Amino acid sequence: MKVIIPVAGTGTRLYPHTFTKPKPMVFIAGKPVIGHILDRMVDLGPEEIILVVGYKKEQIISYVDSNYSDIFNITYVEQNEQLGLGHSIYVTRQAVGDSPIMITLGDMIFKSGYQDFYKKHFNNGECAGSIGVWEVDTPEKYGIVELNDGYISKMVEKPKQPVSNLGIAGVYFIKHPAPLFTILEGMMDNRRENEIQLTDALQGMVDMGLQLKHFYVSSWYDCGHASSLLETNKVLLDELKQTGDIDEGGCDGCDAVDSVIVSPTAIGRGVIIRNSVIGPHTSIADDTHIEGSIISNSIVGSGSNLTNVNLRSSIIGDSVNVSGKHNSLNIGDSSSIEF
Ligand code: UTP
Repeated sequence: MKVIIPVAGTGTRLYPHTFTKPKPMVFIAGKPVIGHILDRMVDLGPEEIILVVGYKKEQIISYVDSNYSDIFNITYVEQNEQLGLGHSIYVTRQAVGDSPIMITLGDMIFKSGYQDFYKKHFNNGECAGSIGVWEVDTPEKYGIVELNDGYISKMVEKPKQPVSNLGIAGVYFIKHPAPLFTILEGMMDNRRENEIQLTDALQGMVDMGLQLKHFYVSSWYDCGHASSLLETNKVLLDELKQTGDIDEGGCDGCDAVDSVIVSPTAIGRGVIIRNSVIGPHTSIADDTHIEGSIISNSIVGSGSNLTNVNLRSSIIGDSVNVSGKHNSLNIGDSSSIEF
């Protein structure tokens, strides 16, 4: 089986961070998003991973080649224009050939790992493919699948009057991809202004009489916008603490003096910390310098300088300088002041 991970998008919902780096390279819980995704793919042992790259592709290629080329057979396919998720799959048709495929989005991290999904798909038995779903509270905001007799009968993007609460999770298995590529080709030929949606192409498979089944996906972490990014950072750090991949209050490879590191916190190499309290739920990337600061529930990029700051729930990019002021107060009795 080959795996397709589309990572060509611009990631506008994560501006300003994605002005300078693609979404998969946004740093979270000690490594870029794409690192967390690929780590969870090792057990699956795919024949090949096809990364669909576009926006700021050099950063993704450089990171993945340096860290994962010994583990996976990786191919990069370029999507020159971001015409939608369906189009990002269409451009892989030559690289895929006749192999069965798994598609997973480049901005979703799933707790359980992909081998678990593959088993669920395998257990679905006879079918053309399986689509991962989860139960959502607001189906009108999601791509939704409708079921009939255990098979998917309909897929609708953001239905006005949803008849199901099964949201499309962003993991798909297709046993024989040829019909999917034929449908996508037809959609490209008839394209007007609109994006080529993968959901529409999968609906095309159902309309052809191909039988798609579903499987349930739990514990997924969305890295697509700032608020979900901090929540994802927190949950992943908790998970790393549970598995023992982050040592209690530790600061391996960093230089901390007169400071307290509150676990779970991930600190990169070459980080210098002085007179500070860092954590919990904080990720600090390589070569950052922090002095006289209190930082919790935050993500700090590499090569940044933070001095005399008190930060909570913050996302700080690479090569940033933030410096605060110490205040001096002379306050009388019974005063109440908030900074
Ligand atoms: P999104 O719909 O989140 O788009 O794509 P995006 O560009 O990344 O982000 P926003 O909406 O502008 O904030 C879901 C996944 O599909 C990929 C993205 O890179 C992301 O991993 N994608 C999307 C492509 O590879 N190509 C496309 O044309 C569209």
